[in-house]
Amino acid sequence: MTTDTELIPLARPVLGAQEEDGVLAVLRSGQLSLGPRVPAFEEAFAARLGAPHASAVSSGTAGLHLALRAVGVKDGDEVVTSPFSFVASANTIAYERAKPVFADIDPVTLNLDPQAAQAAVTSRTSAILPVHIFGYPADVPAFERMGLPLVEDACEALGALHADGVAVGARGHPAVFGFYANKQITTGEGGMVTVGEAELKARMDSERNQGRAPDMGWLDHDRLGFNYRLSDIAAALGLAQLDRLDEMLAARAQAAGYYREALAGIEGLGLPCEDRDGDRRGWFVFVVQVPRDGRLTRDDVIRALREHGVQSKPYLPAIHLMSFYRETYGHREGEFPVCEDVAARSLALPFFPGLRQDQIERVAQALRQILQGT
Ligand SMILES: Cc1ncc(COP(=O)(O)O)c(C=O)c1O
Repeated sequence: MTTDTELIPLARPVLGAQEEDGVLAVLRSGQLSLGPRVPAFEEAFAARLGAPHASAVSSGTAGLHLALRAVGVKDGDEVVTSPFSFVASANTIAYERAKPVFADIDPVTLNLDPQAAQAAVTSRTSAILPVHIFGYPADVPAFERMGLPLVEDACEALGALHADGVAVGARGHPAVFGFYANKQITTGEGGMVTVGEAELKARMDSERNQGRAPDMGWLDHDRLGFNYRLSDIAAALGLAQLDRLDEMLAARAQAAGYYREALAGIEGLGLPCEDRDGDRRGWFVFVVQVPRDGRLTRDDVIRALREHGVQSKPYLPAIHLMSFYRETYGHREGEFPVCEDVAARSLALPFFPGLRQDQIERVAQALRQILQGT
């Protein structure tokens, strides 16, 4: 029974008997790591997307790090990327002592603008890292035309499709997915890198496992590596989640449709862009932008929603304006005006497969009251 005081959470995973059975089977097998579920999950994931290969990793962040190394990003390079993303997409560039070079975003899709990215390319640029933000496909074909190696941050974009029908993550460039608990599928923590070339998969598989080649002895390591492995427990969860992916994506798309109807007519409120030119979003979050009229800030709206029992959060802050980026690279306000405007006004509303229509209407009612007093 819904009451006015029931807190509507931001996100909640869908887990059932299949997940429990999968995890219990791993526990009973005694093989909790480096077992058969990891390759099984990789194969099922790659097949689902139509990608030749996939490497399971311990997080989206770990996957981005390995993917950047795999395309050859190194000390002193520059990588052009979006300032409107989760901080990991830029941090992982800095892990290799390369410089994240930001370029502004498209005001509609909120993805890295290919023209701005092109203008930021220098002789030191060794890769471009577009982000499929909020599950909306970045214009990868335009980045492909620039002729530089690409790493795609698809952490938010499982289920998204490019206009030519190719799944996001299946164009051959390393593309990284994340399985944190709010994602389209979850393994608690975890990630996957899809890739076209077998040699890149082999390198990432070795580097995630302390630099060990598949045919080497246990304590024999022929390159620098990390522990970025996904456990068999997590892979079992992933396999069960992958089985219900279509159902969960459809439920998210339905919730997004209810939001669009319920929020229609709130003056000045920015909604996620509709699919256009054949691109299809893989729904992950429902992010709105508070009106530009300056009456209420994004943080005022978050506080007021909280009083109505609705969780929301700033999503996403501009990366270049975070302290580390200001201090390390000297960034200041005004460099990427589209990103800064959108970032200052954006908040994520409750959004997950089990979110009910009456809860969405309550969120909309609260927003209407806060923004319009009606
Ligand atoms: C766009 C983006 N990039 C990278 C990440 C990092 O993924 P993880 O939290 O699995 O390390 C996330 C997830 O939060 C994300 O949303």
